Amino acid sequence: SLPENLDQKLVPAQKLLMTATLDNPLDADRIRTVLPLAANSRLDYLTVLPETDSTNAAIGRLPAELQHAHAILAEQQTRGRGRRERSWYSPAGGNIYLSLGWRFDSSELPLGTLPLTVAVCICRALEQTGLEGYAIKWPNDIQVKEKKLAGVLVELQSSGNGPALAVIGVGVNIHMPGQGAAATRIDRPWTDLASELPESGPMDRNRTAALLLNELLAGLDQFESSGFDTFAAAWQDLDVLNGRKVRLEHAGEFISGTARGIDELGGLLLETADG
Ligand code: BTN
Repeated sequence: SLPENLDQKLVPAQKLLMTATLDNPLDADRIRTVLPLAANSRLDYLTVLPETDSTNAAIGRLPAELQHAHAILAEQQTRGRGRRERSWYSPAGGNIYLSLGWRFDSSELPLGTLPLTVAVCICRALEQTGLEGYAIKWPNDIQVKEKKLAGVLVELQSSGNGPALAVIGVGVNIHMPGQGAAATRIDRPWTDLASELPESGPMDRNRTAALLLNELLAGLDQFESSGFDTFAAAWQDLDVLNGRKVRLEHAGEFISGTARGIDELGGLLLETADG
């Protein structure tokens, strides 16, 4: 005979498919559960989408009153955006694609340093996963042993001297699905957290997302009260290029020299042959 409440025991086909392909689906409630109280109350909205073009674009499409303190995560992006007009490879089910909308009311803040600030926040979150050897390549690439682990794309919308909305986009390779396909789609050395932490077992993306949001929200608080000053030393400690010979492409020209950290606006300092 059929058991009672059979319908409750049936797993919808779509859900079955999800659990077959996603070892640890992103889940807003789960992220909220892990997120400390202070961060939870600073974050007004948390949305998880199965798919979108770009989480940065998704924040940009929201009505203005829903953009601030709104985090959007997606399982996959069909048009993930990278810096300098590049794309960000965003297959389903293994990585973190996260955007946080934040409105800055003060026009005094050095918003040009926000991408560097965000990179420091990501490193603080990664530290808590047990990862070692991470570093920042100017301005905001997060690398482990010269391989890219995470990237930051901050897009600013400002209206003159009024408030500015920042869309802070963060992509972190957690457990890259289809490593073979990824190798053909990503044009520079890359790694993922699972490869760097082989002893840790399956990655908990909801916990990692909560760690990222916690550090981002705390970092924004710090940035709003004291700008980049309190992040500058942390950034310099993580600077992978400092003291190394580099070749910069700037406005179609190449300039060679030695990287010497950053100035107070987050610009790269380069020591050239003529000083
Ligand atoms: C880079 O290093 O070039 C920046 C990559 C930023 C990727 C993230 S993924 C979440 C957010 N949505 C996007 O379309 N891009 C950012």
